[in-house]
Amino acid sequence: MSFTLWFTGMSGAGKTTLSKRVYLEIRRLGYRAEWLDGDLIRANFSQELGFSKRDRDINVRRLGFISHLLNKNGIVSVVAAISPYREVRDTNRRLLGNYLEVFCDCPLDALVKRDPKGLYKRALAGEIPNFTGVSDPYEPPLHPDVHVRTDQESVEESFAQVMANLRGRGLLLPEDQCVLCEYCEEDETAWRSWLADLGYCR
Ligand SMILES: Nc1ncnc2c1ncn2[C@@H]1O[C@H](COP(=O)(O)OP(=O)(O)OP(=O)(O)O)[C@@H](O)[C@H]1O
Ligand SMILES: [Mg+2]
Repeated sequence: MSFTLWFTGMSGAGKTTLSKRVYLEIRRLGYRAEWLDGDLIRANFSQELGFSKRDRDINVRRLGFISHLLNKNGIVSVVAAISPYREVRDTNRRLLGNYLEVFCDCPLDALVKRDPKGLYKRALAGEIPNFTGVSDPYEPPLHPDVHVRTDQESVEESFAQVMANLRGRGLLLPEDQCVLCEYCEEDETAWRSWLADLGYCR
């Protein structure tokens, strides 16, 4: 049975860090899975979209539709996207059925301190319009399936919470019943670069 695991939260809240960790673990356990990170999708699939409410909602619907296609083919979809608006997240939940929301929760003052991309500094200086949490809304989930407090937990603690939740719901088998896969990110990087040299991918 396949499912969509959707990480939502403000910029810097830990969506990329945590979702990638979970995705790699799901792959290691032998499941087919794909990782849809907001930044990668915007760069390759939603280049024309900006950050108005309309454009953000379109991007979230696209991610929902790709997830539907993946799930239909038995592939777990792990999504990381700010996805600030509740209504469109809830629409995806309804359409996808097997949908779990992970709320990466971190207060603004901690995000401003953390600021891994230096974006809050620029947003607070008024250099970035429509910046979530500063000059644009973020509507937190009312009933997230998993709620991680990334200002209070380590990455490994938040990761463990997500994995325990997936196991508790029977979406993942216990590790001793999984066919572990030898997937290795370094190998994938090497293969990608070899294929790019041959002109098969960018
Ligand atoms: N429990 C935690 N879970 C996830 N990240 C954490 C946690 N604790 C600390 N961090 C740190 O917080 C930062 C989160 O950055 P990350 O790029 O993952 O955020 P993001 O939500 O993907 O932001 P953006 O929306 O801008 O892409 C990382 O530096 C990470 O190491
Ligand atoms: Mg990210």
